[in-house]
Amino acid sequence: MAAKEDISISVIKRLPRYYRFLQSLKENGIVRISSKELAARMGLTASQIRHDFNCFGGFGQQGYGYNVPELHSKIGEILGVNKEIKTILIGAGNLGKAVTNKIFSKKTGFKLIGIFDKNEALCGNMIKGIPIRNINYLENFCIDNEPVCAVTCIPSNDMSEITDLLVKVGIKSFLNFSNFDIAMAHPGVLVENVHLTDSLLTLGYLTNSTLNVEEE
Ligand code: NAI
Repeated sequence: MAAKEDISISVIKRLPRYYRFLQSLKENGIVRISSKELAARMGLTASQIRHDFNCFGGFGQQGYGYNVPELHSKIGEILGVNKEIKTILIGAGNLGKAVTNKIFSKKTGFKLIGIFDKNEALCGNMIKGIPIRNINYLENFCIDNEPVCAVTCIPSNDMSEITDLLVKVGIKSFLNFSNFDIAMAHPGVLVENVHLTDSLLTLGYLTNSTLNVEEE
């Protein structure tokens, strides 16, 4: 088993995909799979899979392969899906509502404990059983409830002030949907940026390249 600090971020970033694949195998009643078969299904190589799992101690048995429910549960454990990282949402507009309804219905290890917006008309409305509070209550709420993670779904112009406050009251990690570069402003915090249009722009470039080649 590798020391935590020696496990590369690319291995860690592959874990959710393993988890998702294994979940689907499990749901389809598959109990046992070889690294070769798992690799073929995932478009990886068997040695890559073995290398990734060996970072965490290796889970297969020579001649048997992997027990799917066991492996799924072990990877879930590594990812921390059974934990409850206290999380708040900033911005309960279209995106905030959609994201909240989707990501907090799955077991991901994050527990939504508070929702904040500056629009008074939204305050008091509930999302997933949690009331939307006025952003003015953010600081006191964080001091009292000690959330660790924030999901930010507000325009970039408002982000600088809000992230300064969030970092000051102890937020350690961000799922950031805005264009504001949190990591530049606060190098010590963990940030996962999500930009749906980046995927579309990449796809656009690749699609256009294919079309241009065909036209030549
Ligand atoms: P929206 O206008 O429906 O919602 C924004 C919400 O944020 C509103 O309820 C507003 O009152 C609230 N808000 C604004 N400033 C605030 C502050 N300082 N404190 C608390 N609440 C505040 O907009 P939508 O569609 O939900 O998008 C939100 C942001 O996410 C936009 O800036 C948009 O550019 C970005 N976005 C990012 C995407 C991505 O893939 N990363 C995809 C779609 C939108």
